[in-house]
Amino acid sequence: MRILAIESSADESGVSIIEAHGDFDAGFTYTVLGNALASQTATHTKYGGIFPNMAVREHQQNLVPLLTSVLEKAGMRGGVTEADVSGILARETDLRGHLEEFFKTQGKPVIDAIAVTHGPGLEPTLWVGVNFAKALAHAWDLPLVPINHMEGHILVSAASENTMTSFEFPLLSLLISGGHTELVLSREWMHYELIGQTRDDAVGEAFDKVARLMGLPYPGGPEISRLAAEVRESARLSLSHVVLPRPMIDSGDFDFSFAGLKTAVRKVVEAEELTDERRRMIALEFENACADVLVAKTMRAIEEYGAQTVLVGGGVSANTHIRTSLAQAIKDYGLGTKLLVPPPSLATDNALMIALAGYFRARRGEYAAADSIRANGNLKLAKE
Ligand code: KG4
Ligand code: ZN
Repeated sequence: MRILAIESSADESGVSIIEAHGDFDAGFTYTVLGNALASQTATHTKYGGIFPNMAVREHQQNLVPLLTSVLEKAGMRGGVTEADVSGILARETDLRGHLEEFFKTQGKPVIDAIAVTHGPGLEPTLWVGVNFAKALAHAWDLPLVPINHMEGHILVSAASENTMTSFEFPLLSLLISGGHTELVLSREWMHYELIGQTRDDAVGEAFDKVARLMGLPYPGGPEISRLAAEVRESARLSLSHVVLPRPMIDSGDFDFSFAGLKTAVRKVVEAEELTDERRRMIALEFENACADVLVAKTMRAIEEYGAQTVLVGGGVSANTHIRTSLAQAIKDYGLGTKLLVPPPSLATDNALMIALAGYFRARRGEYAAADSIRANGNLKLAKE
């Protein structure tokens, strides 16, 4: 089965085509026929975060060129499409223009279904991807599979190069991104139980806001991580220590809170002159505080639920210190719990993860009528 996938939930536009066969534990294999991404971070840097109107505009500019390059890579370019998409793309006039132009040199490709992220995320940007998918499905007479973005993060972290990594359930997923900080328990494939989440800011959001407080560009995660790494080894000898709280670390539940940590950083930033050295020390202590809380809660959840496997997913799972701290804690725990991490390039948003989820949902016949698919910024992972 060949799946075309579209992702536009935040500031990455992604298009991917995979060919997959088999099911979980039954000979699942997949091949990436094409995978393309357009990051808008350069556009949003000056706003210190995602500026929705700009993001909508960029998705409209990016999606057709991405689709073109993915089809090219997959050897599926050529032909002509006769279709009227003016009604479906009534609001996305730029996208409509690009698509109508594209249809002059592109016929129906050999694919079986179109998967699209319909939430969670920024509703205005989600709509661009959803309507693009609807226009393609209409023009090429293909079924649509609506996908929860978070399921994509989980599946791509569980995947290896061309199959799924073998592991035992229960699976505990720590999902950490710009919009989410969640612990999700799965007792079987594609079943999700939310056991804890942030009560205010997501951890990625905290990285981005703290970076902004220190005058660093968006996205803040990689910037803070880079600064922290510069002093991680030598910090013990430094005299300029910074101390930040570990919010909710002993709360006894599996919830998180990062808003107070950000406020604590603001106070530290305002307390004295922000030299390069002080920036590095703040970055280090902030990264340590985030890692300490995430690791402590995850370890407690492993114990409570008898998790045999732990998975990290979402943009913040690209963070080296968080990865290594979790790996060390799991090793020290000593019960042989398996840890699944995505390759850094697939930790942040991409369409390959949506294609994987799309394949397994399509295999289960979970198609939806175009009229019933709506962008939903607060979409939750379904229990089953
Ligand atoms: O999953 P993602 O690409 O988009 C969402 O679904 O939110 O995650 C983006 C988030 C941003 O907040 C970014 O700062 C953070 O992931 N991030 C990192 C790192 N790389 C990206 N945070 C910490 N360390 C990193 N290396
Ligand atoms: Zn994401």
